[in-house]
Amino acid sequence: MRYSYATHLECSLTSQRYDIAKLQGLSAENKPLLARYDLAALRREVARDEIAARPSGLWRWHELLPVPAPSYIVSLGEVETPLVPLANSERPSGFRPPLVKDEARLPTGSFKARGLAVAVSMARVHGVRRVAIPTNGNAGAAMAAYAAQAGMEAFCFCPDDTPEINLSEIALQGASVWRVNGLINDCARLVEAGKSQFDWFDMSTLKEPYRIEGKKTMGLELAVQRQWQLPDVVFYPTGGGTGLIGMWKAWAELAELGWISGALPRLVAVQASGCAPIVRAFDSGASTATPWENAHTLAAGIRVPAALGDFLILRALRESGGFACAVTDESIDAARREVGAADGLLMSPEGAATYAAYLQAARSGRIGANDEVVLFNCASGLKYPMPRVSERMDVQRPFEGGIHRRPGAR
Ligand SMILES: Cc1ncc(COP(=O)(O)O)c(C=O)c1O
Repeated sequence: MRYSYATHLECSLTSQRYDIAKLQGLSAENKPLLARYDLAALRREVARDEIAARPSGLWRWHELLPVPAPSYIVSLGEVETPLVPLANSERPSGFRPPLVKDEARLPTGSFKARGLAVAVSMARVHGVRRVAIPTNGNAGAAMAAYAAQAGMEAFCFCPDDTPEINLSEIALQGASVWRVNGLINDCARLVEAGKSQFDWFDMSTLKEPYRIEGKKTMGLELAVQRQWQLPDVVFYPTGGGTGLIGMWKAWAELAELGWISGALPRLVAVQASGCAPIVRAFDSGASTATPWENAHTLAAGIRVPAALGDFLILRALRESGGFACAVTDESIDAARREVGAADGLLMSPEGAATYAAYLQAARSGRIGANDEVVLFNCASGLKYPMPRVSERMDVQRPFEGGIHRRPGAR
């Protein structure tokens, strides 16, 4: 039995093979490289129940991850995240409560920990000493944390209006961080341009092959958490799309292993109406997306005007029978308030966008009452600006009422 069954890397466009033993970025066609595994051997040598019997968490999936030996693992305790039912939040009558996969419980408070735990571990395998990333915040925070663990130098380039907490957590975790007066794609250009001069390894979404492998574990977890039966529909807040592509890859691997049966979930890419390149491309039948002009949304993590893996996102949506939809910032804000007050789950704006999209899809008939739905809350709501509380009391005076009622309470 091997620790990892990874065999090689493959260009996502041409399927050309690349050596996994070497440090790799993009393929010769400038497309993402995907890790491939000897699934036939894994199927013969390991039973799914063996994996299910291990302590939960990301590394229980080591055969389906690229890290060649446990000694390379850089870890901060990547727990399995729970599925929390939204029993009280509004939903159309007759619909089942959607489940929220609450990624806020991971180290650094977001799902970016999954991708960067694996990517930094693989960077360690290849002797990388210095890493750089363009980031809307959470990915930089996760990279800074894992780089600190691994003793690597970290450089993060963030759009000007990245949430304040993200900038501070990156700095406190020992990385160098800059605000850039541009968007994430402008930050990506800075990282690219600095590669030869500063000798850093580019950790941008999909520009190295392993963040997607870490994100893939969201899809693997969903399977084991639900006794190898996948839900009907998955709503995912889509920026660069690594998680969405990763989950589709995970389910393809599980299906090939014979560990899951039945239909795969329909994938729904959720974007903000102020930055919805994937929605526009999906609706027009295009196989790639054109960059979105003047991108804006309060959900910073999904403000990605152009995604390198656009063709992979669109392919996954279509193969799964899913769709893409956009929600307004107002509906994201309302969703965040509703789920917080009714179910006690403080979502990130990106996570709240999936609940807003769920309501939209349920009301318009794009999903059915009997569908089992999973929404992804990809980061802790505590990382984002929250409403100010202005009520004050004079300690010398008795409390005279003014009770705030939660939505739906009688
Ligand atoms: C909270 C949050 N949700 C969603 C996303 C989008 O993730 P992906 O790049 O996998 O599409 C991000 C990315 O920054 C994020 O921080």
